[in-house]
Amino acid sequence: MTITLKTGADIAAMRVAGRLAAEVLDMLTPHVRAGVTTDELDRLSHDHIVNVQQAIPAPLHYAPAGYQPYPKSICTSINHQVCHGIPGERVLKNGDIVNIDITVIKDGWHGDTSRMFIVGEGSIAARRLCQFTYDAMWKGIVKVRPGAHLGDIGHAIQTFAEGAGFSVVREFCGHGIGTRFHEEPQVLHYGRPGTLEQLVPGMIFTIEPMINAGRREVREAGDGWTIVTRDRSLSAQWEHTVLVTDTGYEVLTLSEGTPPPPAFVARTALAV
Ligand code: MF3
Ligand code: CO
Ligand code: CO
Repeated sequence: MTITLKTGADIAAMRVAGRLAAEVLDMLTPHVRAGVTTDELDRLSHDHIVNVQQAIPAPLHYAPAGYQPYPKSICTSINHQVCHGIPGERVLKNGDIVNIDITVIKDGWHGDTSRMFIVGEGSIAARRLCQFTYDAMWKGIVKVRPGAHLGDIGHAIQTFAEGAGFSVVREFCGHGIGTRFHEEPQVLHYGRPGTLEQLVPGMIFTIEPMINAGRREVREAGDGWTIVTRDRSLSAQWEHTVLVTDTGYEVLTLSEGTPPPPAFVARTALAV
């Protein structure tokens, strides 16, 4: 394993990239309404990233081994779509839940974050899934500190999600991030405490649990990218990019519109 440790200057650049990614979600928020197409959200994001932020949308033409180049600038995953949904002519309607995942490159550094949006009021079940998935992400984030193990993060997320009757997707995980979109380590959203890599100050990785209302199994939808739940149950995901500090963690993908952490997150842990 070669996990790159970031220097002070690297971290400063990652803070900028992380904030820009979050600000794209802030910009999109009033547009995520019944009647909008996901292509329109892609276009708004692309133009904002390129023209306002003078940054690069990392997904566009991204082609990991075994994949065809990703054709759009953001990912929009609706209802039973788990991740990597490709924007298109589909129109959002009341009751849909949609994950919007934004990754920008600024001065060579990546910021990666996603949020759930509920179109209109949403069912009680949909709202509960989105809320629990947000809290599950934070259950993982609060484990981040020097000396903790990656398995501590996965275990915290898994026990919380499964305790609520949900399931955790195994095929996709969080990841180291920096000058590359996806670096080591892999950050599994399930696992056992005290296992896997120990955390060291200067590591930066994402925590991005995908939580299903039904069974955990997923499949690829047929377009080469979109992942869906096999049982067609609803799926939710939230993502932050997180730095391991000397004393704990710092979330790098913060903006004015970032939802506040859940009540169980100690206020002191947020003071950086
Ligand atoms: N942003 C996703 C992640 O969190 C990756 C999307 S890859 C893409 O890792 F090509 F689909 F954009
Ligand atoms: Co990510
Ligand atoms: Co992402």
